[in-house]
Amino acid sequence: MKVLVTGGLGFIGSHTVVELQNEGYQVVIIDNLSNSSLDVLKGIVAITGKTPIFEKLDLKDKAQVQAFFKQHQDLKGVIHFAASKAVGESVEKPLLYYENNINTLVYVLQELEKLTISNFIFSSSCTVYAQADVMPITEEAPIKMAESPYGNTKQIGEEIIQDTCNVNAKIQAIALRYFNPIGAHESAIIGELPIGVPQNLIPYIMQTASGIREQLSVFGDDYPTIDGTCVRDYIHVVDVAKAHVIALQRLLNNKNTTNFEVFNLGTGTGSSVLEVIQAFEKVANQKLNYKIVNRRSGDVVSAYADTTKANEVLGWKAQYNLEDAILSSWQWQKSLNAV
Ligand code: WQD
Repeated sequence: MKVLVTGGLGFIGSHTVVELQNEGYQVVIIDNLSNSSLDVLKGIVAITGKTPIFEKLDLKDKAQVQAFFKQHQDLKGVIHFAASKAVGESVEKPLLYYENNINTLVYVLQELEKLTISNFIFSSSCTVYAQADVMPITEEAPIKMAESPYGNTKQIGEEIIQDTCNVNAKIQAIALRYFNPIGAHESAIIGELPIGVPQNLIPYIMQTASGIREQLSVFGDDYPTIDGTCVRDYIHVVDVAKAHVIALQRLLNNKNTTNFEVFNLGTGTGSSVLEVIQAFEKVANQKLNYKIVNRRSGDVVSAYADTTKANEVLGWKAQYNLEDAILSSWQWQKSLNAV
């Protein structure tokens, strides 16, 4: 069974391709390599022994998207990761984010309308909740004004999909709202490849511990949390990847109860920045050089998932805890350092 993964050489995309291949799917990857490299494709093959079909293609080019789908009328599902995802960059370059995250979604959905079977999995985010009022966050939490153009593109993306499914009975969709994906495949052959100075906590910790960065800055310790630092739900990327396969199978087997379903993907446990640092120091058996600095604008105080719906309806539950995920990130970083 042939499945398209857009952004399939990215962090979550590549881990999802591995899990799809492990389940026997034939995978077609589209990636424009703007935030990845062909080394990731080699890594996927090294892990699974199976070579996905790869098309270097920019989904912003509508004609290229149309030509691609003409060649692949036998697709049984699409998992759509391709998007820009840096919150800070989205504030500086909003139009780049609206073009890259919205236009591409529209072009792919327009092609799905022409296919006989259209099962669509959308890469969404807990950022759609902004600062939720109640913890843990359920899928019924109100969608608030987005705190960044990136978060807005995920909110708009979900609305576009809902509107499309409402008028196209053929298109069945699931949005997966990730909390904070971290970690790497146990082989340490694929993992997160931040370009330039890492924006996210875990890659910055790993680069600091490796001596690539001098010191981690902790953005504020005066929040109303257990130790004053922000709380997040850090979930292993392989758990996130497996959820995509389960969601696709739900649609392929017509188990979905509505034409557009939404699930939170988290562990259900919140961890503060200082707790993450402590977990790293325990796992790596080394101290981390960090200092407390001012808050980062746009940060929410706390965000962690209520996982009931994913556990009971989707039939998925995170198998790895924070230390497992951090250890896998550290093993990946050490493999990068060894190159
Ligand atoms: C986590 C915590 C920072 C870096 C990200 C993506 C978002 C979504 C979820 C995809 C915060 C603190 C960070 C540093 C720090 N992913 N921090 N020093 O902001 O929760 O959201 O994951 O949809 O798009 O942006 O993740 O890792 O940047 O920050 O103190 O050098 O770590 O203040 O409290 P975030 P993050």
